[in-house]
Amino acid sequence: MSDLPLDARKMGKGRCPIVAIDGPAASGKGTLCRALAAYYGFDLLDTGLLYRATAAHCADAGLDLEDEETISRYVQNLQHIDTEQANLRTESVGSMASKVSRYPALRTRLLDYQRDFAAHPPAGKGAILDGRDIGTVICPDTPYKIFLTATAEIRAERRFSEMKNAGKTSSYDSILADVQKRDAQDQNREIALMFAASFEEALAPT
Ligand code: C5P
Repeated sequence: MSDLPLDARKMGKGRCPIVAIDGPAASGKGTLCRALAAYYGFDLLDTGLLYRATAAHCADAGLDLEDEETISRYVQNLQHIDTEQANLRTESVGSMASKVSRYPALRTRLLDYQRDFAAHPPAGKGAILDGRDIGTVICPDTPYKIFLTATAEIRAERRFSEMKNAGKTSSYDSILADVQKRDAQDQNREIALMFAASFEEALAPT
């Protein structure tokens, strides 16, 4: 990577740089975030994992994910969100996360944790947050925002070759159907709609 200077002065006195990386499923955000975190020595928060872990807690408690009132009450009382649970990265958990992420009470429950991480990253150098609403809702004041996107077909191709390289079998068509289904779920909700913040760079890898 060539030189990518971040000007700490742009963040305000005494504040660490925060890099917001938003975009839809399978857009390559994870890869970009990991590369930037390694390059700058910043801490990385995968906010999707928080939504996945919360959804898994709700499912394990036997709750109906369509029941907003019950889910909202449950997450408000949830003391610890365990992001180390098994199988959080599967598409079925991603789809569950997408269902519950539309509930305002759940988003509020996760808000402080994300903002706190951004303001006080563990290593103290800077924070990279990977999500859907980082540049618009969680850290709207950071000057460092990227919105990474691509067509559903290109994202499905990416995921297909990732899975192939990892020795996992799945058909391109079923991956494309999953990507389109999740896009529809994430885009048809009333809150935290995903869009590029006005001064985010919209990057579309091909
Ligand atoms: O990024 P990932 O696929 O792990 O996210 C799972 C789901 O969590 C997304 O489909 C989306 O519905 C939700 N999410 C969100 N806001 C974020 C991160 C994830 O609503 N900041």
